[in-house]
Amino acid sequence: MDLRIEELSTSNLRGLRDLRLAPGQERFVAPVLESIAEAYVTPTTWPRAIVGNGEVVGLVMANWDPDSEREAFRAGIWRLNVDEKAQGRGVGRFVVNEVAAEARRRGVSRLTVLCERGDGGPENFYLACGFVPTGEELFGEVVGGLAMG
Ligand SMILES: CC(C)(COP(=O)(O)OP(=O)(O)OC[C@H]1O[C@@H](n2cnc3c(N)ncnc32)[C@H](O)[C@@H]1OP(=O)(O)O)[C@@H](O)C(=O)NCCC(=O)NCCS
Repeated sequence: MDLRIEELSTSNLRGLRDLRLAPGQERFVAPVLESIAEAYVTPTTWPRAIVGNGEVVGLVMANWDPDSEREAFRAGIWRLNVDEKAQGRGVGRFVVNEVAAEARRRGVSRLTVLCERGDGGPENFYLACGFVPTGEELFGEVVGGLAMG
C-alpha cells in the first residue's frame, strides 16, 4: 500500500467520517468524530488522516505539549483508528514511525501511548512496535513508552 499522512481538510473529512472498526474494537478507542472535535478545541493535538492508495484508511491523533507535568501528555499518541479493511497490512506500524519522525523533528526523544487493555485490544500491537509498559496507569489505561535513538 502506498501510505502517507495528511492534515485534516475538507477533502479527507468524509473519508474520516466513514472509517469503521471491526466489531468489538470500538471500546478501545474514541469515535473518529469525537477525536476531531477534541482536536478542534485542544491546540496541542496533532490529528492526521492516514491515506493508503489514495483512500482514507485511518486517523491518528498525537499530542505535543512539552511543558506538561505529565509525561504522557508531552509527546504521545492519543488515538489511532485503522479502518477494519486496512488492518493487518502495516498501516499502524507506518503511522507509529511517522509520529516518531515528527517527534524527532520536534527534538523529542521519547513517545508515549495510552492504551486500553483487553481481548482484541491494541496492547500487543504497541508492544510489536517497540513500546514498553511504563507501569503507570492514567484514566484506567496503560501507559507505554518508546525511546528513540
Ligand atoms: C491496533 C491497530 C491500530 C493496529 O493497526 P494495524 O494497521 O492493523 O497494525 P499493523 O498491520 O501495522 O501491525 C503492526 C504489527 O503489530 C502486530 N499487531 C497488530 N495488531 C495486533 C494485535 N491485535 N495483536 C497482536 N499483534 C498485533 C502485527 O502482527 C504487526 O507485527 P509484525 O509487523 O511483526 O507482523 C488497529 O488494529 C486498530 O485500529 N484497532 C482498533 C482501534 C484501537 O485499538 N486503536 C488503538 C487505540 S490507542
